[in-house]
Amino acid sequence: MNPKASSLILVTLFVFFISVNVESFDVTELLNRYPDLIGFNDLLTQTKIAESIANRRTITILAVDNSSLAGIQSRPIDEVQKILSDHVILDYYDMKKLRKLQKSVIVTTLYQTTGVAEKGQGFLNVTHMPGEQFVFGSAVKGAVPVAKLVKAVYAQPFNVSVLQVSQPIVAPGIGEVILPPPPPPYIPPPAQPPKSSTSSNKTADSPGSDEDEIDAPNEAPVEAPAPAPVDAPDEAPVSSPPAPTKEETPVAPASGASRVYEGLSFVVAAFVALVF
Ligand SMILES: *[C@@H]1O[C@H](CO)[C@@H](O)[C@H](O)[C@H]1NC(C)=O
Ligand SMILES: *[C@@H]1O[C@H](CO)[C@@H](O)[C@H](O)[C@H]1NC(C)=O
Ligand SMILES: *[C@@H]1O[C@H](CO)[C@@H](O)[C@H](O)[C@H]1NC(C)=O
Ligand SMILES: *[C@@H]1O[C@H](CO)[C@@H](O)[C@H](O)[C@H]1NC(C)=O
Repeated sequence: MNPKASSLILVTLFVFFISVNVESFDVTELLNRYPDLIGFNDLLTQTKIAESIANRRTITILAVDNSSLAGIQSRPIDEVQKILSDHVILDYYDMKKLRKLQKSVIVTTLYQTTGVAEKGQGFLNVTHMPGEQFVFGSAVKGAVPVAKLVKAVYAQPFNVSVLQVSQPIVAPGIGEVILPPPPPPYIPPPAQPPKSSTSSNKTADSPGSDEDEIDAPNEAPVEAPAPAPVDAPDEAPVSSPPAPTKEETPVAPASGASRVYEGLSFVVAAFVALVF
C-alpha cells in the first residue's frame, strides 16, 4: 500500500478515537467507581439526567452518598429529576476554584435549562465559610444553605468535577425542603480518657525502647576504646617498616586511590607523548 495512504488512515483513525472520547461523557461509568455514590448514580440514570449531561463539556456534580439519599428516594420520579437537575452545576468548580471564592457565588444549574424553573430555582448559592468550609443552597430568596461540602471526589480540569455534599438540596417550590440535622451535642469528657490511656500505653512502651538504646551506647564505648589504642600503635610501627621508603608511608593511607591517579596520569602522559 502507498505509505502516504496508510499514514493518512492511521491519522484518521487517531482523530476518530480522540473525537469519540471527547463526544460523550459517561457519568454513569464515572460514578460507578464510588460504591457510596451508587444510589445517586442510579437516580441520575432513572431520571435520564445522565443522558442529558453526556454532551456537556463543563460541569460540576454535587453527589450525595447512599446514607443521605433517603430524603428524596421515595419521591415521585419527576420531582427527583427536578431536585437532581439542581445538583448539576453548568460550570467547573474544584477545590482550587472553591478556595478562591471571596464569599459567595450564584451558579447556574441544569434545572435552569429545562425552562420550568421558577425564580431562583435553577441557581445555587455557593458560600465560602471560615475555615475552608463550603455550603451549597438554593438561590431562591430566603432559602437556607443546607448542604456542606464533604469532599472532592473526582476532578478532570476544567471539564468535570464531582463534589460530595452532605445532603440533597431541594429548592423551595420544587418539593419539601430538607433541612440539615441539628449539630450533635459537644461531648469532650468521654473522648479524653481513652486518649490519655493510649498515650500512657505509648509512654510505657517508649521508655523501654529508650532503655535499649541507652544500654547499647554505654557498653560499646567502654569496650571499644580500650583495645583500640593498644592495638593501633603496635600495628602501625610494624606495618610502616615493610614500606619501601619513608616518603611513601605518609601516602600509604590513601595509597589505593593515589596509585590509581598515578597510573592514570602516567597513561595520560604516555598518550600526550604519543600524540606529539
Ligand atoms: C449503595 O446503595 C446501592 C443500592 O442503592 C448498593 O448497591 C450499594 O452497595 C450501596 N453502597 C454502599 C457502600 O453501601
Ligand atoms: C448566599 O448565601 C450566603 C450565606 O447564607 C448569604 O450571606 C448571601 O447573601 C447569599 N447570596 C445571595 C445572592 O443570596
Ligand atoms: C473541556 O472543556 C473545554 C471547554 O470548556 C472543551 O473545549 C473541551 O473539549 C473539553 N474537553 C473534554 C475532554 O470534554
Ligand atoms: C497497650 O498496648 C498493648 C499492645 O501494645 C495492648 O494489648 C493493651 O491493651 C494496651 N493497653 C491499653 C490500656 O490501651
